[in-house]
Amino acid sequence: MSAEGGRSGAEAPADEAWARPLLDVLAAHPLTAGPGARHVALAEVDSTSARAAALAREGAPEGSAVVARAQTAGRGRLGRTWASPPGGLYLSLVLRPDEDMLRRLPVTLLAGLAAAEAADDVAPPAAGPGAAAPAAALKWPNDVELEGRKVAGVLADLTREAGRSVLVLGLGVNVEAPLEALPDDVRARATSLAAAHGASPGLARVLDRFLARFEPLYRAVQRGGGAHILASASARMPLLGRPVRVRLPDRVLEGRAAGLGATGALVVEGPDGAHETVVAGEVEEVRAT
Ligand code: BTN
Repeated sequence: MSAEGGRSGAEAPADEAWARPLLDVLAAHPLTAGPGARHVALAEVDSTSARAAALAREGAPEGSAVVARAQTAGRGRLGRTWASPPGGLYLSLVLRPDEDMLRRLPVTLLAGLAAAEAADDVAPPAAGPGAAAPAAALKWPNDVELEGRKVAGVLADLTREAGRSVLVLGLGVNVEAPLEALPDDVRARATSLAAAHGASPGLARVLDRFLARFEPLYRAVQRGGGAHILASASARMPLLGRPVRVRLPDRVLEGRAAGLGATGALVVEGPDGAHETVVAGEVEEVRAT
């Protein structure tokens, strides 16, 4: 495994204070510490996922990872940008899942669940009755929310290379970036772990807990399992059972979020009782007026 320093002026030496703890975490986890895995920490980059994809094209093995202190062109789902000031965790992992695995459950669902579990892991212990930190919820497909505000998101870029799949898994967590550093339209719906929990757990601790939570989920799906993952993810989705509106590329679907299908898709029950399965889209609760 190699912890790399800079190739251009924007890249951080690997021993820079913010980078060292993150590189240490990457070096310690089974998923990211495999033979030949490459770890890159950058002070600033356009997108960690673009850099991880370049590593993958160079042949970097599964578990290779790119982290950055800030991104200038962070990418979100559905073609959006991901505001990436310092204080967020910006991580992209190179994964090389087999085809069977990809058919079972989306890696993004595993990552969203792992990020939600990690957010709870780093919450401060309850100081008394009613003082517990808010539990992290999942908004389908893989947004992590605290008290209804988004704190983390997951983006997967899947490509094929010599007949094999390469998946660059991007995770963005607002750990401690001041909300004022986010664009106005994002700030209204966003939070940070520091704001929601009253103190920052630090980027390295969040990375550590994310990898500790993600790896067993990834291995379980690799071995052919996954039913417990659907149950755990569903249990964190308050929208299930409620009236929802789903924005699809070509139309808007309204109905009741009935549950998750066997492969993680959202099942929406229409007014006529018919079930429709949605694999990608933007879901929101429809509240009675
Ligand atoms: C979403 O829209 O919710 C997904 C956001 C994913 C952001 C992360 S930050 C690290 C990686 N690099 C990117 O450019 N995007 C992902």
